[in-house]
Amino acid sequence: MPPDRPASSTICVNAHIGQDTAYGAVIAPLYLSSTYKFKALDEIGPYDYGRGGNPNRDALASTLAQLEGGAGGVITASGLAAIDLVLNLLDQDALVIAPHDCYGGTQRLLHSRQAQGRLRVRFIDQSDGQAVAQAYADKPALVFIETPSNPLMRVVNVAALASTAKQAGAMVVCDNTFLSPVRQTPLALGADIVVHSTTKFINGHSDVVGGAVIAKTAELAKTLSWWANCTGVTGAPFDAYQTLRGLRTLHTRMDAQETNALNIAHFLHDHPRIKHVYYPGLGDDPGYELANTQQSGPGAILSFDLHCDRDGVREFLAQTQLFQLAESLGGTESLICHPASMTHRAMDQDARTKAGIGESLIRLSVGLERSEDQLAELSVLLSAL
Ligand SMILES: Cc1ncc(COP(=O)(O)O)c(C=O)c1O
Repeated sequence: MPPDRPASSTICVNAHIGQDTAYGAVIAPLYLSSTYKFKALDEIGPYDYGRGGNPNRDALASTLAQLEGGAGGVITASGLAAIDLVLNLLDQDALVIAPHDCYGGTQRLLHSRQAQGRLRVRFIDQSDGQAVAQAYADKPALVFIETPSNPLMRVVNVAALASTAKQAGAMVVCDNTFLSPVRQTPLALGADIVVHSTTKFINGHSDVVGGAVIAKTAELAKTLSWWANCTGVTGAPFDAYQTLRGLRTLHTRMDAQETNALNIAHFLHDHPRIKHVYYPGLGDDPGYELANTQQSGPGAILSFDLHCDRDGVREFLAQTQLFQLAESLGGTESLICHPASMTHRAMDQDARTKAGIGESLIRLSVGLERSEDQLAELSVLLSAL
């Protein structure tokens, strides 16, 4: 008996394969044209102008919507453009509740929109029930969730946060960048919208900057598409083409990178030079139980605190070879980063300290290299500390 719905690996691999009616191309062609012919006066075809619609963006959006269990979506020029697109749904002065340890660029965006008088934002620890109840009592219009969080891999309960947010009358938006739809589907847990930096696991090859917004309802998807055309934040066709190409191997990449990450997490967990490992795949991690119910795996990102000061960190990072010292994550190659001075430098020091992002924190995006090679490099780096 065939299953009711294809498995997500099949959706990824077969997305828009063999549907070209012009030449029978197996792979969906790339449409770079910025404009499309009208059939006649008042007779508009499926596309008219590339900012508002493009077949490659639509192919990627419909595939991601299928994977996330949404009704439709919009492909944007970056992950932050995706988040900013969602903010257009808010009335002036609306209250946004966001995690105090979310991605630094998201914090900067929300702070800057607040400084303009566009909205109000409150950053809270979303795993603290009392802080959540207090924030919800102020009638937020939007609750923004990022789980696992960047860079501390904290897992929050999407279903619980979403159901109480709904009672408070708020829309729920979840950033699913760290896991991708093959490990977590927030819409099924009660979120209204999922956002992605497709720059990360979805494209997976560190050669495209892009984003996506997936909506639970067709109405919401339509409103978001309207705003995307109005504000011009849609992504380029070639980026969408590349990203769909990357998406085809998402399952296999995630499986292999996650296995490597688990090996590293266990290795670091027992190492004397390591103060703490943040990874929900470890049995003693505070997010372990929740991750086991909410996610179908812990993912391939992990962070750790070293037993050293900033100078020690500098020395540690100076010796890396296989792990590239770079921002971003989710590519096939392993990356190492110092969040306090790199990805989260846009946050002020006080906010970083409150969130737990200290000077000795290191984040790894674990790639597809042979696990033994990754462990050997980390072992050398740590023994030189
Ligand atoms: C969790 C998360 N959300 C959003 C973004 C922003 O994405 P982009 O860099 O594609 O704008 C990032 C970037 O690192 C991220 O880590």
